[in-house]
Amino acid sequence: MKALVVEPGVAGSARVEDVDAHVAEAEVPVRVLELGMCGTDREIVEGLFGVAPEGEDFLVLGHEVLGVVERDGHGFARGDLVSGIVRRSCRHCLACAEGSPDSCLTGDYSERGITRLHGYARELVGEAPDQLVPIPCELGRLGVLAEPTSDCVRAIRHVRAVGGRQPWAPQRALVTGAGAIGILVTFLLRLEGFDVVTSSLEPAKPLVAEAGAEYVQAGDADLGLFDVVVECAGNAQLMADALGRLHRGGVACLIGIDGRDQRVSLDGRTIGVDTVLGNRALFGSVNARREDWLAGIDALDRMRRRWPGALEQLLGLRVPIDRFADALAYTGGKATLVLSE
Ligand code: BGC
Repeated sequence: MKALVVEPGVAGSARVEDVDAHVAEAEVPVRVLELGMCGTDREIVEGLFGVAPEGEDFLVLGHEVLGVVERDGHGFARGDLVSGIVRRSCRHCLACAEGSPDSCLTGDYSERGITRLHGYARELVGEAPDQLVPIPCELGRLGVLAEPTSDCVRAIRHVRAVGGRQPWAPQRALVTGAGAIGILVTFLLRLEGFDVVTSSLEPAKPLVAEAGAEYVQAGDADLGLFDVVVECAGNAQLMADALGRLHRGGVACLIGIDGRDQRVSLDGRTIGVDTVLGNRALFGSVNARREDWLAGIDALDRMRRRWPGALEQLLGLRVPIDRFADALAYTGGKATLVLSE
């Protein structure tokens, strides 16, 4: 069976090769239809991230899956559309024991296609029934967005939890970065009724306007202050800048990653005075637990109905598995690998 594999830590080692197609009795056999590619996959292919399963020297890539169940059983029926939860319990911390491996306290979790667990970039995969999430058939191929949407839903859930520690009525939000994650966050915040400004380097982003948000090309324009800032560009300087863009009681959430070896600057009074006197907060968010997946799938359905065609536009490039390099290089939105039609 064809799979996209990589040797973690070895740049340029990604290749399509044959792997074992065995599915255990306790697992649900899932035929992979489509697989989203993201910045994390790019980092793994560049040798900067990723861990192979214990005792193996390669990792099957892929964590944003849309698949179809091959055989009745374990509570699923042949033909059901599904996605798979990425992060699995470390088995020895409170958060994982409480069903929140997204908040794992040890870092010993495993993640499909990223850390210690093979991913979904293959034609057929066996999955534990309790790690599968049903995708409604009306969503169809848009179900491939379930994973990134779950991460964004989780981030906004945490923004509300952090902001809600004190009386708060957030109205205005800034999203920095307009890649797939920035667009999904923009859509989610619009669904929740926020006035949204989305800012990025490109001169225009029609999808932002389609959702009733304002698009601003990054520059010197004074955008005013915000109740919520979500940093999706993966830029450490923008992450630091987020604090200075907050209203009193405002919350900044970081969901991009910037692993560059660098120092960033932050005005002393912004952190030393305003953050304290204005009860502002800045925090990071990663991954998602099952309730975020379910809320994300529901939100995708609402986006599909509210802005017809927009999510299809976001899924800007579909290529076969052998063209994984094109998918990884794509910056126009979300690129996917098509494993089965
Ligand atoms: C994935 C998350 C994962 C994170 C860190 C992201 O690309 O969407 O599920 O937790 O990478 O590995």
